[in-house]
Amino acid sequence: MQRDVEEILISQEQLQARIREMGAELTADYAGKDPVFVGVLKGVVVFYADMVRAIDLPCQFDFMWISSYQGHESTGNIVVKQDVSTDLEGRHVVILEDIFDSGSSLQFTYEHLLKKHPASLRICTLLDKPARRRPGITVKPDYTGFVIENRFVIGYGLDYNERYRNLPYVAALKPEAIQE
Ligand code: IMP
Ligand code: MG
Repeated sequence: MQRDVEEILISQEQLQARIREMGAELTADYAGKDPVFVGVLKGVVVFYADMVRAIDLPCQFDFMWISSYQGHESTGNIVVKQDVSTDLEGRHVVILEDIFDSGSSLQFTYEHLLKKHPASLRICTLLDKPARRRPGITVKPDYTGFVIENRFVIGYGLDYNERYRNLPYVAALKPEAIQE
């Protein structure tokens, strides 16, 4: 266990078991639809790679890079750093995200992609931290891996100041490792 990990909250085995379940659900829901999976960079990368391999369907990959976040608080100021490259008009689109926290990122991403006139648009998030939701957030995930308590988490793609993304599990960061 790495130095700054306080506690493992979701083990590799738990992650893989839940992803298999969600994969089966998405496989059933999107049969015959040739969906496009849009990953929100960078936190989603590890989840994305496991999630798409649990979906037994023809599909397409795409990614968006938005910037919204410094340190361990979301700012709510969001810009598109890199947009998707697929024409999403008339396509069945699933947004893949690492965590639904304040909700600002997914609200922004959802509204941004909706303007591209997809046939359908849904949200799949690995983690949901409902205690943190900002007022005025109207989007909600259609597929959720795990609902977690209000703690700052790292690993499995999630970072603190760009560190810890490669931990194979989701963990709580030691409070003393957080620099305000
Ligand atoms: P939002 O607050 O829902 O807009 O989430 C914005 C982004 O903040 C997420 O996509 C994550 O990259 C990051 N984030 C939110 N909560 C955590 C956390 O507990 N650990 C690491 N990153 C987080
Ligand atoms: Mg992120």
